[in-house]
Amino acid sequence: MPTTPQPDPCLIVIYGASGDLTKRKLIPALYDLCRLGYLSAKTGILGVSRTAMSDADFIERMKPWCQENPHFDEQTWSRFAGRLHYQPADATDLSSFREQLVPRIDQLSQQHDVNDNVLYYLSVAPSLYDPIINNIGAAQLVTEGKRWCSINRDRLPWQRIIVEKPFGHDLKSAEHLNRVLGRVFDEESVYNIDHYLGKETVQNLLVFRFANAIWEPLWNRTYIDHVQITAAETVGVEDRGAFYENAGAMRDMIQSHLLQVMAVLAMDTPSSSAAQHLRVEQRKLLEAIRLIDEADAPDYAVRGQYTAGDVGDKTIVGYREDPNTADDSTTETYAAMKVLVDNWRWQGVPFYLRTGKAMRRKLTQIVVQFRAAPHAIYSEMCGEEAPKPNRLVINVQPDEGINLKFTGKVPGQTGTLRNAVMDFDYLEQFGGESQEAYAHLLLDAVCGDRSLFKDRFEIEAAWRIVTPVLNYWANNPDAELATYAAGSWGPEAADRLIEPFGPWRNPEGEVSRSRLVHK
Ligand code: BG6
Repeated sequence: MPTTPQPDPCLIVIYGASGDLTKRKLIPALYDLCRLGYLSAKTGILGVSRTAMSDADFIERMKPWCQENPHFDEQTWSRFAGRLHYQPADATDLSSFREQLVPRIDQLSQQHDVNDNVLYYLSVAPSLYDPIINNIGAAQLVTEGKRWCSINRDRLPWQRIIVEKPFGHDLKSAEHLNRVLGRVFDEESVYNIDHYLGKETVQNLLVFRFANAIWEPLWNRTYIDHVQITAAETVGVEDRGAFYENAGAMRDMIQSHLLQVMAVLAMDTPSSSAAQHLRVEQRKLLEAIRLIDEADAPDYAVRGQYTAGDVGDKTIVGYREDPNTADDSTTETYAAMKVLVDNWRWQGVPFYLRTGKAMRRKLTQIVVQFRAAPHAIYSEMCGEEAPKPNRLVINVQPDEGINLKFTGKVPGQTGTLRNAVMDFDYLEQFGGESQEAYAHLLLDAVCGDRSLFKDRFEIEAAWRIVTPVLNYWANNPDAELATYAAGSWGPEAADRLIEPFGPWRNPEGEVSRSRLVHK
């Protein structure tokens, strides 16, 4: 995200405007950008879906979601509402597209004086991606100007498209989607959104690694023992059971978010913060990840499914009891994977990725476990608590921050060593407000900054990594599907996976050592 956003005027067309993402995330994010004055005064927003609704109905439907913003005020709202429009249309049908949508897009482009700059947002079921993209092309909504817009954005109109995950269901369908997109849009006009890359701490990770000289010399196999990346959620599948049955944790979280976070954490130093340099390094990292044989999948991955249990004061029914899932479903709601990188920097350093629904705590966290000091000269001073090797914990959410564990000497004559934590909290230190990932990313797309979006090669590389495991699970339905009670930290099988590098770093183990860690 540029320091001072300089967004062009544009019309944002959201396909799937009656869906959940639009009301929960997209419109509130756009409201927030409008409140902060980040969007051009010449910005129009057009929601499109099949549901019959007037502009006024749409505006009324969106308001309560924007009101959840703690800084909501009526004046900003009425300014924002003046930019909101709605068009019922079947965007998958070319004649409906031509008759209902194209004239409305033309009319709003003129009304808001957007110089034909249009940002399309695909927030629809993946099965609708193909026809909508094809129709955008067939209706000639992508003008020739797109080839020049990245060079001379001020004058020549641009058209861009944001594509929501899932980017395909497997490698083959992802390649197909990329081909369909490529027939209509240039690669640089395609913004594959991964909202994890819009999270404040994931962006901070780039700065942490590359604006400080002290980490880079340590960031390799000589000093790092292993890495853990966890994305735990307390919610179950809620009302998304039908979608989730065909997805599962490996597709839903590991193929997309966690491998991307890993790429940011482990990539080589880019030569600048420009999108093309970041993309190249992230792609190189993903392509260096070892591709395993399908038959070896049990040594590299564990799947689990939650049974009924309590998460905090909420009781969650077991996954199979959900009305939208099969009684004998083998869909994993938990997945853990060991990932090895075949390059000089990371040879022999395992990265353990895990994610689960209905877990004890909402937590996204990266743990970089350093090696022990090569020779322990203080072992006789250690008392009961042996000094632990250094550990860096990066909290992505909640409580965005970083802490470093080290060993210190207890003051006085005791001669005792103890483990201590140095802690850094982003908001406490810098103040300001942390912004919704979608707001960051939408603004970046309007500004033409692709640094935090994935390109087609990264998506395909990530599919290649998980495919052997997905195939093994699909071809061996009887392969172990470990269960775990809702409200726990996942199945025991995952503990075996991380041996001998484990255990998994769960918050409880840390809390007693410092108020600063994992409130
Ligand atoms: C989405 C997944 O991409 O990310 C959801 O489809 C998941 O299943 C969500 O709940 C998690 O996002 P966050 O930002 O809450 O960690």
